Amino acid sequence: MHSKNNIESLPFLGDFDEAELRQNKNASTKITTWTKLYLLFLHVLIVSLIWCLYRRGTASVFRLPTTDGATWSPAQDVLEYEINNEHTTNHDFYSKYSGPPSDEQDVAWDALMRPVYFNASLDEVLRAEETITDDMAEVAEGGYLANMAVYHELHCVRQLRFWLYKDRYYPSLTDAQNAYQVPHLDHCLETLRQAVQCHANTALYTFYWDEPTDMKPLTKSNSRSVCAKWGPLEEWAYSRMVSTSPEYNRKQSEG
Ligand SMILES: *[C@@H]1O[C@H](CO)[C@@H](O)[C@H](O)[C@H]1NC(C)=O
Repeated sequence: MHSKNNIESLPFLGDFDEAELRQNKNASTKITTWTKLYLLFLHVLIVSLIWCLYRRGTASVFRLPTTDGATWSPAQDVLEYEINNEHTTNHDFYSKYSGPPSDEQDVAWDALMRPVYFNASLDEVLRAEETITDDMAEVAEGGYLANMAVYHELHCVRQLRFWLYKDRYYPSLTDAQNAYQVPHLDHCLETLRQAVQCHANTALYTFYWDEPTDMKPLTKSNSRSVCAKWGPLEEWAYSRMVSTSPEYNRKQSEG
């Protein structure tokens, strides 16, 4: 009642003493400051909520918990995951890496493979719990020659691709080259088998009859997979790469 009375009587202040007037003024300044702060708080809260909902709804980018020890990698902090619905069930569709070989495809593969190697520091090698031996390959610009498993696996895919299109990539293969390549590619297949089982994609596929008389049904899928975002990883690889045929810093052999 008191405050209501004060507000209502403001225009008729005549008889109010200075002290009371000042008090009322202070009180009302206080209220507006608190109201402003409260509104600011609400504003921040609402904007944050909208932002969180937006992130959850669209991006679906997330990270795995990072590790230390032998599973640690200098690139682990840039790794982000996303939900991806890429499929290869459509046999008429070729990506820039697939289909009959062409010059454009070779360019795409070269760009994909260019940052295959990087130079790791001693700290990085130790943190990854790699053993330090005298015979480790060091590059001329400093550091140890290193790469990431994913690049080894991509190398294997490419090598198998070269073999599939031997006419283009090995037009005059000698018996010796053949004898070298077969066990090398077998090792590549084994590398890929391990990688595939390691990542164990459980996305669901079903089968359908393309023609009722077909011997076997074909695969189809609307499933989505949890995939690494290639962009940030590749950016890291490019930022740290050394030449695909690096200069080595060889120790003088003793004797
Ligand atoms: C890797 O090579 C770059 C030059 O390309 C050099 O500046 C850097 O110090 C090297 N890193 C390590 C860890 O030796």
